[in-house]
Amino acid sequence: MPCNCCEITNSQFDESIAKGNLKDYLKKGPAKQTKLILEAIRSLKLKNVSLLDIGGGIGMIYHELMNDVINKAVHVDASSAYLKVAKEESTKRGYAEAIQFIHADFTDVEKDISPADIVTLDRVICCYPYYQNLLKAAAEHAKHAVVLTYPRENWYFKIILRIVNFFQKLRNDPFRVFVHPIQQIENLMKEHGFSRVANKQLFIWEMALYKKI
Ligand SMILES: C[S@@+](CC[C@H](N)C(=O)[O-])C[C@H]1O[C@@H](n2cnc3c(N)ncnc32)[C@H](O)[C@@H]1O
Repeated sequence: MPCNCCEITNSQFDESIAKGNLKDYLKKGPAKQTKLILEAIRSLKLKNVSLLDIGGGIGMIYHELMNDVINKAVHVDASSAYLKVAKEESTKRGYAEAIQFIHADFTDVEKDISPADIVTLDRVICCYPYYQNLLKAAAEHAKHAVVLTYPRENWYFKIILRIVNFFQKLRNDPFRVFVHPIQQIENLMKEHGFSRVANKQLFIWEMALYKKI
């Protein structure tokens, strides 16, 4: 890996961010873009399937789907703080044993991870420079569907990210955010045998559901 991505991401998403995210989730429910992922998964009408949640943060997706759509999950995350908070919440809810928590860059450990029925990446590829490697690995691990959210490729978000990245550079913080080309995401998923069957947009985020053809 040409960057120490896991280390950079690990320091970016620390315990205060993770605890703040959990507090918001417990108060207001899943974030808007996560709701789009949940609706897309429910539209597949699957029951008791497996989930691979890459960069799942505090685990909102499996907290919402456990004991209904999914019966087990693997959560691979570059942030140890997110994993800790996600595990504590899963323990409280009584299903921590059904979830495997792995602290890693998914592209580094993908060979040791079994395929799952559904693979999710909620606001993950925008934190990762080598999105092709990450998406390819995600597609190769999905038996039925890949659902992801990413920033819309429009001028205002590109400007916002430039400003954010400029201040990151000034602060000597190596973490960067990315708007990856949506057409290339589409092409990569097609090459791996997936077809986009749903696509919804919010002001900043876009959700795409890819099903295996
Ligand atoms: C903006 S946060 C989103 C967290 C959660 N999905 C949500 O929407 O609340 C990005 C997440 O992606 C994770 N991440 C980024 N690149 C990753 C990679 N290559 N492998 C595993 N996790 C990654 C980060 O650690 C972090 O948990």
